[in-house]
Amino acid sequence: MSEFERAELRAFIQALPKAELHVHLVGSAGIDTVLALAKRRPEAGVPTDREELARFFTFRDFSHFLTVYWAVGSMVRDRHDVHTLVTGLAKDLAGQNARYAEVTVTPYNHLLDGLPGDELLEGLATGRAAAAAEHGVELAWCFDIPGEKGVEAGRETLLFALRERPDGLVSFGLGGPEVGVGRAQFEPFFTAAREAGLHSVPHAGETSGPATIWSALHDLGAERIGHGTSCAADPRLLAHLAEHRIPVEVCPTSNLRTRQVESLASHPVRRMLDHGVTVTLNTDDPPMFGATLNGEYLGVAETLGLRPAEIAQLARNAVQAAFLPAQRKSDLLAEIDALVTTG
Ligand code: ADE
Ligand code: ZN
Repeated sequence: MSEFERAELRAFIQALPKAELHVHLVGSAGIDTVLALAKRRPEAGVPTDREELARFFTFRDFSHFLTVYWAVGSMVRDRHDVHTLVTGLAKDLAGQNARYAEVTVTPYNHLLDGLPGDELLEGLATGRAAAAAEHGVELAWCFDIPGEKGVEAGRETLLFALRERPDGLVSFGLGGPEVGVGRAQFEPFFTAAREAGLHSVPHAGETSGPATIWSALHDLGAERIGHGTSCAADPRLLAHLAEHRIPVEVCPTSNLRTRQVESLASHPVRRMLDHGVTVTLNTDDPPMFGATLNGEYLGVAETLGLRPAEIAQLARNAVQAAFLPAQRKSDLLAEIDALVTTG
C-alpha cells in the first residue's frame, strides 16, 4: 500500500462515526493521568517516570498484565480521580470520532481499594455529563464482576448495580482471569441482572478455550462475548455465533500485548469474519496497550486487506451491537452509509 493510499485509509477510518463497546475505565487512564496519580499515591508502586511507565506497561503475559492493571486501579480513590478518568476517556474517544462507548467499571475492586461507593457514583455521573457536554460523547456503563474474587464479588457487584442503578448503566459483565475461574459459578448473579433489565456481556475465550464461551452463552446468557478469541478453534461455536448473530468484542492489540496471539496476521479475527461472525473492534485498555480505536480499524483493515465497505461494516456492527435506542442506531448507521456512498 502506498503512503497516499494509507493516508486515505486513515482519513476514511477517522471519518467513520464509531462505537466502542469494550473499554475498561481503569485501563483507559491516559499516560499523563497515570503519572499524576502515581505521584500522589506512591504506595501503589506505579512508576512516576514516563520511560519507566512504558516499561511497566510491557507485559510478560496475561497475569502480569492483570497485576499491573490492579496496581493502577488501586490509585483511584475519590470522585475527582473518577471524573478525571471518565473525561480523559471521553476526550480520547472524541479524538477517534467515537460517538458512543460502553465503559466497564469494576465497583467491587474500587470499594476494596478504599474508593467509597458514593464517590465512585458521583465521579461517574459528573464525568458522564461532561463527556456529553464537552466532548459530544455518550457514555454507558457496564458493571463487571472481578472473576478472581469469586462468588462474593459476584453477589456484591449485583447488589451494588441493582441498588444504585446509575443513569447509563446498561450491562453486567465478568472480567479478570478465566483459567480456574469457571463462568457457571456466576450464573445466579447474571440471571438476576438480566431479570432486572441489564444486558449480559461477560469476557470469555480471551485466555481460555471455547468451552468458556459456551458456558458464557449457556450459563450467563451472554448477548455479546468479550474477546472470544478462542472461538476460532471450534467450528460449531463459530457457526453458532454467526447463526445467532452474537457479536464478539474483538480487541486485537490487547491480545498482542498480553501475548495471547503472536501477530495481527495470526489473530483469529480473520477466521471469525470468514465464518460470518459479527465482529466489533475495540481497545480494552488503550493507553496500557498503546492502542487507539482508529488504530484497531487500521491494523485489521491493512492486515486483512479490507475494502472501505468492509471496514464500514465493522463500524456498523458496533453500532448494531450497542445497547442504544433504535433511533440513535439508525442515525449513526445513516452517517456511516453516507460516508460509504460518497467515499
Ligand atoms: N480487565 C481489564 N482488562 C481486562 C482484560 N483484557 N481481560 C479481563 N479483565 C480485564
Ligand atoms: Zn476487557
